[in-house]
Parts: sequence; structure tokens; C-alpha cells
Amino acid sequence: MANNSDTLKQNVMDAITAANDLDTLESVRVAALGKKGAVSALLKSLGAMTPEERQEKGPLYNGLKDNITAALTARKSDLEAQALESALATQALDVSLPAPASAPLLGRVHPVSQVLDELIAIFADMDFDIAQGPEIETDYYNFTALNIPEAHPARQMHDTFYMKKARKSVLRTHTSPVQIRTMEAGDPPFRFIAPGRVYRCDSDQTHTPMFHQIEGLVVDETTHLGHLKWVLETFLARFFEVDEVALRFRPSYFPFTEPSMEVDVPYHKEDGRIVVGSGDEWLELGGCGMVHPVVLAGAGVDAGRYQGFAFGMGIDRLAMLKYGMPDLRAFFDGDMRWLKHYGFLPFDVPSLAAGLSSGIVGR
Ligand code: FA5
Repeated sequence: MANNSDTLKQNVMDAITAANDLDTLESVRVAALGKKGAVSALLKSLGAMTPEERQEKGPLYNGLKDNITAALTARKSDLEAQALESALATQALDVSLPAPASAPLLGRVHPVSQVLDELIAIFADMDFDIAQGPEIETDYYNFTALNIPEAHPARQMHDTFYMKKARKSVLRTHTSPVQIRTMEAGDPPFRFIAPGRVYRCDSDQTHTPMFHQIEGLVVDETTHLGHLKWVLETFLARFFEVDEVALRFRPSYFPFTEPSMEVDVPYHKEDGRIVVGSGDEWLELGGCGMVHPVVLAGAGVDAGRYQGFAFGMGIDRLAMLKYGMPDLRAFFDGDMRWLKHYGFLPFDVPSLAAGLSSGIVGR
């Protein structure tokens, strides 16, 4: 390109007008305004001039740069508009074409959501309502109202996530506080489940810091331990889709039930997969028992007239057992390969949960 600024301007302007596509226009820009461009070279030469020369040439060269920049911008938007128009003219969507053969990528339903739907459907068949409560819970509902004394291990820092700013609040360590909140808000008889997220400082193959429990509470005038056993056996047989599940009820201790038991199911491993129903290994699913009269009375229920049973099971453990995942921690890693392998296609799983939401009781 010529050294004379008028000739240079004319040449660059001609090149801009002649550029018929964005790539050519970019080459013109680089040749004029790039680091080694002709206009940039003129601007650089100002540094070597005397102050008088610079006063004369400075405005000239800077004006040249501004003119070329404006012409480039205008031509660029013309070319972009032309490109869009020709794309619209040539790439019109033919809505009458058949859909592409490969199905679009579908998300998966997480096994915990799937199992939750199954649990709700089974308990709905047994006439249970659904109750819910807050995940940030007060010390009172999480512990005190459940007859859990100060010295109980569940209160130690080891298990419980205490809220930093509010010492009297915790991330609930179990779904049992929903028993109290729901009894306080209503009148007996009660028959509900309360599924939800809970938190404990715990991590290994069968423990995660955030996990899910399902609480169950039945309170009536004649409710007894036999009913509890029947409900759990019926629920687990339906859940595992077998005629009968061999359960092990182990005597245990929970401050809010008396007597208390833990429920285990037998399993064995085949190729690293958990197979439920038989075997020498036992996995603890949850705790249960007859509600302690102190708890009933504290929640405003006449403990002389009413009695009831409660249970609390790990939903993630149920999912592991039914669908054969070997490690609970992988549930919450967010690894898409895991979800693709163990997840469910949304249209394969009829869900009853939405249809039951009108039955929610409590807060
Ligand atoms: C309780 O949490 C009692 N609230 C259960 C209960 C309710 C007893 C009503 C009596 C009446 P426990 O701490 O054992 O109990 O926990 C219940 C179940 O939650 C365990 O059996 C297990 O299946 C599951 N669970 C406990 N900790 C974890 C964890 N860190 N990760 C995954 N699942 C867990």
C-alpha cells in the first residue's frame, strides 16, 4: 500500500468495498490496522517526527484511522446481514420432514427420586398421608421433643451439623422431628409418612453426609407392635416385589420409642452387585418402635388414650438394595456416567407422587 496517506486511504477504502465476505474484510483490517498494518506504521512514524511535523500529521493519521475503522464496521454489519439473509433463504426449516432417527439426549430420573415415588405409592395404598418439615431444625424439635437428653451421642459434634450463627439450630439429623410438628398441628388419629433430606457428619460405603429418610407414624387408640411389624413386612415385600422378605428385628434403643427395634434385611453380593433377600450379610434399613408416651404427651396427644408406632428408614439404602449399587457415596457425586447407568428414563416410570401432593399435612 502506498505511503502517501491519501493514496493509502483510497486503497483501503476500495479494498473494504470490494470485500465480499467476512474473512476477506478481516484481512483488509489486519493489513491496515493490525500490528504491522500500513496505517499502524504511519501512526508509529509520528514518534520519530519533530513536534511541528507531529502537530501537522498527527490529526491527519488519526483521522485516517478513524475513517477506516468506521468503514470497516459498516461493511462488517452489511456482510453479516447479507450472510443471515442468505442463510434464512437457503436453510428454511421443512416442518414436514420426518424426525431424525437418533433420539434426543434424555435426562434420567435419579434412583432416589424413583424410589421416593415407589415408597409414596405403596404407603398411599395403605392410606398414609404425607407430611413435611424444615431441614434446618431447632434443637427442640430435633432432640428435646423426641426425649433425646443432652448427653445422647446424636447431639455430639461428631454426628450433627450445628448452624454456626444460631447455636439452637441444626441441619436435622433425622425425619423424626416431623412426627412432633405434625402431631402438634393436628388431632389424633395420625397415619402419615414424612420423607426428606437429613444430614450427619458421616461418610463411608453405606453412609453419606446428606441422605434421605422416610419417617412413618401411626397413632390410634388400639395401635400395637403387631401392626408395626405387618406394615413394615408388607411395605418391604411390595417394595422388593416379592411375596415375602425375611426381616430381622433387633432389640435396640431410641429415646423416643419404647420398646425400640432395628430392622435389617439379608443380602449377598454377585459380581459386586448387592442382591437382596438372602445371604449372610445384613444391611440395616432403619429403626422403629412404639412411640414413647412422653413424646406423645409433649406433642399434645393424650397418652392415656392413644398409642402408636413409628419407623424411620434410609431411602438411599433401600435404593442400593433394590437396584444393586455398591457404594452410597456415588449417589451424590453428580457423575453423569453413573446416572446414565443407574438412572431411569422419565417416560418409563409412572409417578404417583404428583397426584398425591394434595394429601400433604403439617408445615
Ligand atoms: C434414626 O434416625 C431414627 N430417627 C429412626 C427411627 C424413627 C427410630 C422412628 C424409631 C422410630 P438411625 O440413626 O438408625 O435412626 O437411622 C435410620 C436409618 O437411616 C439407618 O438405619 C440407615 O438406613 C439410615 N442412615 C443413617 N445414617 C446414614 C448415613 N450417614 N447415610 C445413609 N443412610 C444413613
